[in-house]
Amino acid sequence: MPDLVRLALLGAGLIGHRHAQAISAADGVELVAVVDPDPVGGCVAQQHGIASYRSLPTLLGSGTKIDGVIVATPNQTHEQLTLACIDARLAVLVEKPLADTLSAAENIRQASESSGIPVLVGHHRRYNGVLEKARELVDSGSLGRITSVQSVTWLFKPEEYFQAEWRRRSGAGPVSINLIHDIDALRYLCGEVASVQAMTSNAVRGFEVEDSAAILLRFVSGALGTMSVSDTIVAPHSWELTAGENPMYPATDESCYQIGGTHGSLSLPNLTLWTQSGERSWSHPISGTRVPLTNEDPLIRQVTHFADVIRARVTPRVTAADGVANQRILQAIADSSKNQMTVELT
Ligand SMILES: NC(=O)c1ccc[n+]([C@@H]2O[C@H](COP(=O)([O-])OP(=O)(O)OC[C@H]3O[C@@H](n4cnc5c(N)ncnc54)[C@H](O)[C@@H]3O)[C@@H](O)[C@H]2O)c1
Repeated sequence: MPDLVRLALLGAGLIGHRHAQAISAADGVELVAVVDPDPVGGCVAQQHGIASYRSLPTLLGSGTKIDGVIVATPNQTHEQLTLACIDARLAVLVEKPLADTLSAAENIRQASESSGIPVLVGHHRRYNGVLEKARELVDSGSLGRITSVQSVTWLFKPEEYFQAEWRRRSGAGPVSINLIHDIDALRYLCGEVASVQAMTSNAVRGFEVEDSAAILLRFVSGALGTMSVSDTIVAPHSWELTAGENPMYPATDESCYQIGGTHGSLSLPNLTLWTQSGERSWSHPISGTRVPLTNEDPLIRQVTHFADVIRARVTPRVTAADGVANQRILQAIADSSKNQMTVELT
């Protein structure tokens, strides 16, 4: 495998153009083609001085030398495009969610595992030093036994966001688009989820997809989780508006996750660790310390990792099996909300 890894980008929309920028900024990778049926693909290709194509088959038939593909297209297209790349024996970095349904996600996992072609799922937060440090603190026992975790994903999406019709259709609400990152992060910090209870609502926007959801989780470890998501709330409490990962979203110093243990708790992403130096008691002083961290752009780290996966130096940090596990939780949220029952996953 060459030192310089050649990548093609499928989908030049909101996140696609950020992948193109990350590739330009990363070492050891080169963007060689953009595929998009929309003229935006030609614009992004022009900015990078490379060729553009209207469809994946046209690119594959062009003889362009490619080592891997980034799939940054609507959720409903992930299965077909990822399977076509695997058929062409090209490694894939596919945006989250892995697919729009659990069975489609399973098809991708099986195709990847049986062919040996690696699939990396685009949960870029896993490359954020904040989550890595939080995992280190949890694993070190600094928080004691994790009792409860909480995530809040409250943000407001403007009207023009919904002009892309796929974002109003099933498989593309804030649970699949935003909360799936939080689900992946909480799985990373607390382990697998044993059961799910959920309520969803589309009362504010009235689209086919939900605009809000409230979710209860029980982890295999015994820890409990509460998650709240809505794209109808003007608030600073979401990873998007606190982590400062994407210049499109002005960052605040608020937190959106609380990780609670018997000996301390952690606010994220501002990495504030709350502990008591003497006896643990609600009537004794408690102090919060900012854990120091030097961070790097997670999208650049992710594409650098993808290149190493292609070079067979490492295995994917977020596997297709992780993508399926996250998707099973999405399915459980939908089933629990519809049938008003607890869904057991283990
Ligand atoms: N990691 C993140 O933080 C993050 C952020 C935003 C979106 N996403 C994910 O990225 C994906 C794309 O989201 P978006 O907001 O950029 O969407 P978007 O609508 O802005 O862009 C999607 C692009 O894909 C193109 N497209 C559609 N079908 C195609 C095909 N068959 N081949 C090639 N291109 C095709 C569209 O023309 C469009 O330009 C979704 O899966 C979404 O969940 C991830």
